[in-house]
Amino acid sequence: MIKAIKGTKDLLPVDSPRWKHLESIVEKVFKTFNYKEIRTPVFEETSLFARGIGEDTDIVGKEMYTFFDMGNTSLTLKPEMTASVVRAYNEHSLGSLQPVTKLYYIASMFRQERPQAGRLRQFNQFGAEAIGSSSPLLDVEMIQMSYNIVTDLGLKDLTIKINSLGVPKSRENYKNLLREYLNDKQHDLSEDSRKRFDTNILRIFDSKSTGDQKILKDAPKLMDHLDDESRADFEIVKEQLEKSHISYEVDPALVRGLDYYTKLTFEIISSSVGAQNALCGGGRYDLLIETLGGKPTPATGFAAGIERILLACENEKSFTVPDESLDIYIVRLDKTLESVVMQFADKLRKQNLSVDFDYLQRSVKAQMREANKMNAKFTLFVGGDEYEQEMTRLKNMESGKEEKISLNELDKLVSKIKNE
Ligand code: HAM
Repeated sequence: MIKAIKGTKDLLPVDSPRWKHLESIVEKVFKTFNYKEIRTPVFEETSLFARGIGEDTDIVGKEMYTFFDMGNTSLTLKPEMTASVVRAYNEHSLGSLQPVTKLYYIASMFRQERPQAGRLRQFNQFGAEAIGSSSPLLDVEMIQMSYNIVTDLGLKDLTIKINSLGVPKSRENYKNLLREYLNDKQHDLSEDSRKRFDTNILRIFDSKSTGDQKILKDAPKLMDHLDDESRADFEIVKEQLEKSHISYEVDPALVRGLDYYTKLTFEIISSSVGAQNALCGGGRYDLLIETLGGKPTPATGFAAGIERILLACENEKSFTVPDESLDIYIVRLDKTLESVVMQFADKLRKQNLSVDFDYLQRSVKAQMREANKMNAKFTLFVGGDEYEQEMTRLKNMESGKEEKISLNELDKLVSKIKNE
């Protein structure tokens, strides 16, 4: 038997109502903040991500699903949405329609990571990007939106971490200070961190090694070397979060795994899932639009992992969704009435009722069992003497009450079902 690829997951009908519940909350929250949906292709030119996310990141270095098409162009399944959204923003001059473009998405992403709980190779994100303003209020908006969504889902065990990475100039100065500090400690660092010392020194802060963390404890802090503008913006973010009653922690080690960030970065961490505990992450990326060929335009955004959030919801039992029930199950009393039942079901379905019936020529008893299993609100019996008189019998499955209705009184039947 052929099975699904490791790190991918089927969304089965039992899981789908929870998924839809999440999507309805996501769409409601984005609507309240006036974000509009964008969908982009599943694959893009590889250079978009290499340039956008950064050659020295784990994503570009080792996690992308890259292949050559028949024209020998290198293509990549999108590992994240921000680069694709910016590509679309530049390509369609979206900025000329509005000074601030607010976009949201729900889509599948692909990263060749080692699968584990909360870490997949095809996973789904929802997220938002606001392009066109450097106001820290938009950074706050990102945190408010993600926080509103996860709390609307009933999640409680949450920590919001924020940091500022400053503008490139202050960050470069800081990197030199860090390099100086770590220079004579290099041989005590883990192998990964030794590599990062040369390629992407800030990412050493992501190391899980206790030895590395011990060394980093006394390292100079980026927060103490921020430029004035980044510092002022960071103060506004903190003040607005406090006014919105959103508690946060400042985490100077929050460097994030993508290279495009400037100034604010944030993550929402859950303590009810395992090691993969970041439910969402984001921040400001004021230079990405020009890096990808557009006019210099500031921007900010975030993305959240749907599977991870639903795992947290399951562990916290944060919400339950009722089973999807069926409006009517039609029970056919005579085998010869198959076509009549089919046509009647069609009429009811056109009235927006959910209708099902037997396709296996089963006995009346078996059809009744099926109606119960499907949690049908009503059963409609078609056949026998009643049918000769152009009548049917409608049974309310909860109260057990039965009523005869003429087959020609479709309106009456529909209004009964909709109103009871
Ligand atoms: P990211 O931190 O790489 O950021 O991903 C955002 C979220 O996607 C993570 O917090 C996590 O919940 C989920 N996620 C990431 N990788 C996996 C995986 N392998 N399996 C399951 N879930 C995963 C970005 O993608 C940026 N584009 C966010 C952003 C938007 N920044 C600015 N705008």
